[in-house]
Amino acid sequence: MEPSLSAAELDVRYFTHEDLSQIRQTIIDVHAEAQGADRDDEFKKKFPWFVDHWGGNPAFACVIAYDGDEPVAFAYGAPANPDHEWWREHLDPAPKKTRTFAYSELAVRPKWRKKGVAELVTRMLLENRDEDLAVLLVDVEHPRVQALYESWGFRKVGERRPFPDSPVYAVMLTELPLD
Ligand SMILES: CC(C)(COP(=O)(O)OP(=O)(O)OC[C@H]1O[C@@H](n2cnc3c(N)ncnc32)[C@H](O)[C@@H]1OP(=O)(O)O)[C@@H](O)C(=O)NCCC(=O)NCCS
Repeated sequence: MEPSLSAAELDVRYFTHEDLSQIRQTIIDVHAEAQGADRDDEFKKKFPWFVDHWGGNPAFACVIAYDGDEPVAFAYGAPANPDHEWWREHLDPAPKKTRTFAYSELAVRPKWRKKGVAELVTRMLLENRDEDLAVLLVDVEHPRVQALYESWGFRKVGERRPFPDSPVYAVMLTELPLD
């Protein structure tokens, strides 16, 4: 049966680095279902490594939305390393504000799409953060996803391929808090 819940009726919970062992498989499962056929892509298969990398950061921040006990979406990231603000090379002039939250991953299971769940978990992840900016990467071949981020205030500032085997991504930046 199709879920009839709206995003506002979901239970959104916050998690940190300390919770990683508890939420790791949930994140991997939601991500795999969200990817659909793309999950067989060689780069996408490395996702568990990225979960451990990001979740291993003591400042890791994650929100997971639940429909009852069922996880339906997640969003996570961590503060960017101030000594490694790679996105700055895309900006001329670079903004005076510096502290940046790196928004790493977002996924919504297919049955819960088009209900504002992606916006809900994004806003809950980014609200009350004390960084000045948020940065993310989105596959340049997914313009509709880029448009979604633009609707929340992100703007494309450049393109980047962070790993030799990764897609080319649009680098997107916004000031915090979101409007
Ligand atoms: C991106 C996502 C969180 C958005 O969820 P949502 O707010 O409910 O919105 P939708 O699923 O309707 O997606 C918005 C648009 O992006 C498109 N889109 C979503 N994921 C896509 C993907 N992986 N590749 C290409 N297009 C994608 C949708 O087809 C939709 O296009 P439309 O407006 O023309 O119908 C969800 O689609 C998802 O989990 N996708 C797979 C994982 C992903 O791409 N995460 C973002 C990483 S930057």
